[in-house]
Amino acid sequence: MSFSDVIVRRDFPALRERSEGTVPVYLDSACMSLVPQAVLGAMEEYYRDFPGCAGRSLHRFAEEVSHRYERSRELCSEFLSLGDPRGIVFLRNATEALNLVGQGLPWKRGDRVLISDQEHNSNLVLWQRLAAERGIRIDVLALPESGFDLEQLRGQLHRSTRLVSLFHTSNLDGRSLPIREIAEVVHDHGAQLLVDGCQAAPHLPVDLRELRVDYYAVSAHKMMGPTGVGFLAAPFEQLSGLRPLLTGGETVEWSTLTQHALRPPPHRFEAGLQNYAGVLGTGAAIEYLGRIGRDQITAHDRALNARVSRGLADQPRVHVLGPSAPADRPSVYAFALDGVDPADAALFLDAGHHVMVRSGRHCVHSWYEARGLEGNVRASFYAYNTEADADALVNGVTELLERVPESAPKTTARRTMAAPARARPKRKR
Ligand SMILES: Cc1ncc(COP(=O)(O)O)c(C=O)c1O
Repeated sequence: MSFSDVIVRRDFPALRERSEGTVPVYLDSACMSLVPQAVLGAMEEYYRDFPGCAGRSLHRFAEEVSHRYERSRELCSEFLSLGDPRGIVFLRNATEALNLVGQGLPWKRGDRVLISDQEHNSNLVLWQRLAAERGIRIDVLALPESGFDLEQLRGQLHRSTRLVSLFHTSNLDGRSLPIREIAEVVHDHGAQLLVDGCQAAPHLPVDLRELRVDYYAVSAHKMMGPTGVGFLAAPFEQLSGLRPLLTGGETVEWSTLTQHALRPPPHRFEAGLQNYAGVLGTGAAIEYLGRIGRDQITAHDRALNARVSRGLADQPRVHVLGPSAPADRPSVYAFALDGVDPADAALFLDAGHHVMVRSGRHCVHSWYEARGLEGNVRASFYAYNTEADADALVNGVTELLERVPESAPKTTARRTMAAPARARPKRKR
């Protein structure tokens, strides 16, 4: 029995066998991960047992939720080895965390931000807006096919570069950047480093004190937590320099009809009544991940990725994106198929093999646009996936390629998909 058979699979209600005898093969965790029962339970418990609002009323429901809300903050701080829960700001998602930094910094016209050419729209569009509205300039670091060139980074830092904003792990091809080394170069230059940790924090041990990043953005829904919760992690002093995105209830110490005094971070950034159930669910997700261990998760991702990579290595029509070694892109197997539209491939895999993957441009439109590419298919792995899942993907892609000749018009896969799927034996887990 493998790691996930023993440890986690049964904890995820979404992976249960369905009435028709099928078991979902969920390979889309880079988009959104599945949620274990422990997280569902924590959220339900809030609404069922102490549905109060934190930090306002003094009754027992409010006391309970206040205590647990702050406990989740401590867990987030421990999860990233930040060393100070006051540096955790709960927000709606990672996009909001990136925006809090981007819109909260005191920019001057002509200040520059450096990003890579492989950023999610969440780490691109906000800079374009700031360029239009506040006169900042955007520089773009063209990443090599694999690896990272620190000299290239040094060469692109200008005197007026104030911020470098990069992904930690790419949602496009699964590669990770050497954040510790990057932080050193950026700080030597006198700039700050913002890291989009959405795809890294769920899979890798992240130690922010060791990495020395200035701001780190995370979303709960990619790490077994609920949707609608993300957080920004930063040293407390760093947060004090940001202007809140929103103001209102919970953000102030006092107000008169003409003035107010903001609370210290992180509360000044958490305007209005919060998503308590979601934040408590996030804490439960972190505890759950802690029981598995992210070292274990990385090793597990690697093994599954290697299995798929081996299984499809002899298919000349399969083109894998990113680093050639699966160990360098553990959680993501992104691929294009000669002669098959990515959306058709995704539909075929789902309909015929119950394999759920993502297709398209993965919110990194700029990268595809620059290369004249239409998009591709992305399978992503997590702790609950099994070797059987990896094999289902390999079998599905192999069958698709057999059914759709390379020269066929791209719509053939869609028609093929409509044909009844080959009867398959019930899968054992
Ligand atoms: C690398 C990366 N950055 C940012 C985001 C946006 O995250 P959220 O939806 O939590 O704002 C995603 C989500 O897919 C992502 O993969």
